[in-house]
This record gives sequence, C-alpha cells and structure tokens, in this order.
Amino acid sequence: MKIAVRHSARLSVGAAVLALALAAAAQAQAPAPNPHLARNLAATCANCHGTNGNALGEMKSLAGTPAERTIALMTFYKTTAQPEGVTIMHQIAKGYTDDQIKLIAGYFAAQQPKK
Ligand code: HEC
Repeated sequence: MKIAVRHSARLSVGAAVLALALAAAAQAQAPAPNPHLARNLAATCANCHGTNGNALGEMKSLAGTPAERTIALMTFYKTTAQPEGVTIMHQIAKGYTDDQIKLIAGYFAAQQPKK
C-alpha cells in the first residue's frame, strides 16, 4: 500500500511537469492574431449597414463614424434590456464582447463614407 501511494505521488508530479511543458509548448506555438479580425467582425453588420459600413437607402451608415460613438451606442444597446424605439440592435449588440465592439468600431471609423 505504501509503495503504491509513493508511486502514484511520483506519477502525478510527473504528470504536472508534463502538463506544464505541454502548456509552454502550446503557448510558444500560439497562432498570430488574425490581422483581418476587425474586418471579419465588422462584416457581420454588412447585411443591414452595407459593405464596409456604407448603407443603402434609409439605413444608417457606419463608415467614417468616430469609434467612440459606435462604442457608446453598442454599449448602450448591449446593456439596455429594451431601449425605446430600438428594434434589433439591443439583440445584436449582446452577441459581442467589449473587445470585439472596439475592433468593429475602429474598423468602421477607418472606412471612407460614400455619402
Ligand atoms: C439585421 C439588421 C442589422 C444588423 C445585422 C446590424 N444592425 Fe445596427 N442597426 C439596425 C437598425 C434597424 C438600427 C436602428 C436601431 C434599431 O431599430 O435597432 C441600427 C442602428 C445601429 C447603430 C446606431 C446608428 C446611429 O447613428 O443611430 C449602430 C452604431 C449600429 N447599428 C451598429 C451596428 C453594428 C456595429 C453591427 C454589427 C455588429 C450592426 N449594427 C448590425 C440594424 C442592424
């Protein structure tokens, strides 16, 4: 019994060392951040707000909008259960993290408005 206990203790130390080594190796090989992440996230808004934030018709364009404005509106939509007069953005905004909203807002701020 004593031997088995010592054996398993040694095993779990070995397993911990192995886990640490694997974690270090995984970190060393972590893929570089996707340079297109902001554009890809912003593309999820294109159905309604147009390609690169240039909307057609009456829909609000997001192209050229200062990032602070988009962040403020998205945060408002995200944190408000049912804002008056808002039909869909309170549902959409809740699907994005604060970091994703910052990336999206930065992307649209850098786009050239066409109208
Ligand atoms: C399904 C259509 C749809 C999609 C997709 C969509 N929006 Fe909207 N957006 C709207 C509508 C409609 C409004 C007007 C407010 C409302 O009724 O919800 C709006 C309003 C806004 C406004 C306020 C504009 C202003 O100046 O008043 C911002 C900012 C915004 N959307 C950002 C986004 C972002 C960022 C995304 C992508 C993550 C997105 N929207 C995706 C439909 C959409």
